[in-house]
Amino acid sequence: MPYNIVLGDITYFKCDAIVNAANSSLLGGGGVDGAIHRAAGKGLLEECRKLGGCKTGQAKITGGYKLPCKYVIHTVGPVWRGGSNDERELLYSCYINSMKLAKEYNCESIAFPLISSGIYGYPKRRALETATDAIRDFLADNDMEITMVLYERMNMQEDRRFNSLDDVIKRNYIETDPVRLNTLIIQDVGLSSQPKKKHSGGFWGLTSSKSSSECEDSAELPRSDLVLNKAKVNSLSEALDKIDESFTEMLMRKIDEKGLTDPQCYKRANIDRKLFSKIRSDKFYKPSKQTVIALAVSLELSVDETKEMLMKAGYALSHSSKFDIIVEYFISGGVYDIYEINEALFEYDQKLLGA
Ligand code: APR
Repeated sequence: MPYNIVLGDITYFKCDAIVNAANSSLLGGGGVDGAIHRAAGKGLLEECRKLGGCKTGQAKITGGYKLPCKYVIHTVGPVWRGGSNDERELLYSCYINSMKLAKEYNCESIAFPLISSGIYGYPKRRALETATDAIRDFLADNDMEITMVLYERMNMQEDRRFNSLDDVIKRNYIETDPVRLNTLIIQDVGLSSQPKKKHSGGFWGLTSSKSSSECEDSAELPRSDLVLNKAKVNSLSEALDKIDESFTEMLMRKIDEKGLTDPQCYKRANIDRKLFSKIRSDKFYKPSKQTVIALAVSLELSVDETKEMLMKAGYALSHSSKFDIIVEYFISGGVYDIYEINEALFEYDQKLLGA
């Protein structure tokens, strides 16, 4: 996934380069700086001594030493002084300069802490917004696996964007009590333990004169009045010829209708290029639910179009899933910024969109 958000300690994160929120001396300190130096060992400090410090907004690189990464990129974030001293521009430069340096050293993956949001006092949500802006801009023209490693969850109440989402989840989320849910499934789709009913109209709208047990016994469905979605067909092979548009076919059709290029589509979907080309080259590709929804967001589909695309991949939206409720909330509100949706999914400890 081009941009992911995880909760954890960056000193354990395995990738090509981790970023250190340092101070201008580069000689260590508290917070994540202290943690990185402790984990890397004294070799890191010895190399930092030779760098001659670093200006705010700039970045310098050293080896990773005992850390599970090849490099440490040290950047100095701005101290928060109320927001009118170029704090945003300087923080944005920290991210951009760190990613450019990682690219210069052929890194394919990089992990950030939330720079300046600790000792330097930058409000966490604003810090995350600026980080996301810089990462989005960099990924528009570059391929790299970028991870934001948050040390603690953000405080939702700080951000009014999520207040109504909280209400929507409370109002719609159905606790998935397995017994209750199971009963519901049995009742809803007629899979009751009662004796098998005459086979009438299953998933494909197939109707036949034989009972379902006879159908299950015979290799072929009866030839008499096999109807597939109102089109009369005389054999299973003919029925399969009339199969609906596949997920991939709908995806390609929608990309054309929206006038998007492939890169525009997969970058807006937070999907990497290789996966996209796999989908494009396989008419019957079976994507994950997150991938389908990420592409629906990228194409700015309506809720109904999203449900149609999900169905073609064998999925549905359900109110027994917080993930589905959150995604439906943003799509029905016309918010198609996948990074913003992922921040909300992260807050509710859900899988993120993209792949
Ligand atoms: N892994 C990931 N994130 C961490 C870790 C860790 N091990 N430890 C702290 N953090 C988070 C903090 O919770 C905060 O959200 O990193 C973010 C940045 O906090 P600081 O480390 O305090 O960095 P910053 O706010 O940029 O202040 C830099 O602090 O450490 C000193 O020498 C550093 O003087 C400099 C100042």
